[in-house]
Amino acid sequence: MTGVLVSILAVASQGVPPSNAGNGRPGGPPRNGPQDPGVRGGAAGAGNTYPVLDNTSASQDSAYKAFYAAAKIRFQEVDSVSGTIPGEMGVGLGPRFNANSCAQCHSYPTVGGASPLTNPLVASDFAHLDGAANPVDLSGILSLKGPIREVRQITDPATGQLDGSVADLFTIQGRSDAPGATAAQINFPLQLANHNLSFRIPTPLYGLGLVEFTADSMLRANLAGTAPQRTALGIGGRFNYNGNTQTITRFGWKAQNQSLMMFAGEAYSVEQGVSNELFNEERFLINEDPTVMANSTFNGACEDRTNITNGDAITGTSSDMSSDIVNLAAFGRMLAPAAPTTSTVSQIAGSHLFSQVGCQLCHSPSLTSSKAPFPALSSVTYHPYSDFAIHHMGPGLADGIYQGIAGPDEFRTAPLWGAGQRAFFLHDGRTKDIVQAIQAHQGIGSEANAVIRNFNQLPPRGQQNLIEFLRSL
Ligand code: HEC
Ligand code: HEC
Repeated sequence: MTGVLVSILAVASQGVPPSNAGNGRPGGPPRNGPQDPGVRGGAAGAGNTYPVLDNTSASQDSAYKAFYAAAKIRFQEVDSVSGTIPGEMGVGLGPRFNANSCAQCHSYPTVGGASPLTNPLVASDFAHLDGAANPVDLSGILSLKGPIREVRQITDPATGQLDGSVADLFTIQGRSDAPGATAAQINFPLQLANHNLSFRIPTPLYGLGLVEFTADSMLRANLAGTAPQRTALGIGGRFNYNGNTQTITRFGWKAQNQSLMMFAGEAYSVEQGVSNELFNEERFLINEDPTVMANSTFNGACEDRTNITNGDAITGTSSDMSSDIVNLAAFGRMLAPAAPTTSTVSQIAGSHLFSQVGCQLCHSPSLTSSKAPFPALSSVTYHPYSDFAIHHMGPGLADGIYQGIAGPDEFRTAPLWGAGQRAFFLHDGRTKDIVQAIQAHQGIGSEANAVIRNFNQLPPRGQQNLIEFLRSL
């Protein structure tokens, strides 16, 4: 939470796309088959709010836009432990954390997007930020030109029980604003050697309001609509859901979270260590020593909360009075989808092949939102290229993690909107090459096997057209 705002990391527009490592690289092995042209150059096609949020009244519309602008600043706010370090005015970082602002991880091609091309956790030496002492070698997990990764432990080393929760990379120990804190870093190299770690990369937030405002009944009808074709190709698909409400969860790599508010609250807790009104406890290890817990806690419960009073002023804007997580959820809701540039003959041909080979049976090209609180977002047909269902993807992608009803090899169909300007692919960011991302769909028990066979049987020009189409999204 904060009153004052904040130095912003220079993450917004990073121009140069990466060379396309591993595919047709000079000196590398020659590759037959399609080539990924790499991240699409030119202007970022994402990162703004909608032209209109409320088409019923100009004053309502400008009130929503003002909230969006203020919420975006919170998304970029940098947190420190107590909010006393210049440029890091948010309060509540730690005791363990992965990064100190939402925009650190969600930054490419613009604020709200996914992992940037250069890993800020390495480039800015997060391990030692503000005097922190984080001695553990993270080189097996993070690299300068690799994706930002969030780490989960498959089993808890202390108990041997299934875990799956986020294991934070850094601690506040040694920081100038955390005197006496002793919470220690997890022994990541040991857990890596024990094959006990599973990685995830950030997903972009563009267009997620439309996803949130799509009724469960719409999602179910969309899935039911392709049932005969899916069965013919061996494709299943089911929705993950919330065990208390039976409503469809749709956010995250395993579609584990119901709403943007839930994601914001959870991310604030697990990525930054900021306790809030959804996750009000500081996070410690299951066997953490009580003394460590006491000396590593610097603020009371709910470090981020509704501002019932705004300091001495009793009123403020709706954004000022709302908690950060309300603002962060609203930012995701009001952030427009990435704009595709599909226009060339080969891109258009590729879009037809995408459907012909069967990619669209999971990567649904169109869905329609329901009645939304922002009137202009109601009944909008949008193009996420996802059914928001989970599918078995085989042992090559399986990650050992259970979430809701999703088992280790089940993942949400990754939405492909904006894929043209995405630097890393698949849940663990294992490749920058979109062709490799497609080939990784194959494996024993993967529901995508027949479709990938269809893709591989296309003539070379057809395969290339399909890739060109994906990079136009
Ligand atoms: C250390 C990097 C990191 C930080 C910081 C971070 N995120 Fe994320 N974000 C991720 C990762 C990794 C995922 C995928 C998580 C998963 O599926 O388990 C993700 C996914 C999301 C999603 C789901 C998008 C979708 O496609 O369903 C939302 C929403 C989100 N983050 C919001 C936030 C907000 C709000 C903040 C700030 C409080 C934040 N994130 C901070 C790494 C980060
Ligand atoms: C059975 C459902 C299914 C089919 C069929 C399918 N996909 Fe996917 N796709 C997925 C899932 C699930 C993921 C996420 C897997 C992961 O990250 O572990 C994914 C991920 C991707 C990604 C990576 C996106 C990202 O953001 O990381 C691309 C690109 C992709 N698919 C393209 C295709 C293309 C092209 C086809 C057709 C040739 C296709 N897919 C067919 C389910 C499917």
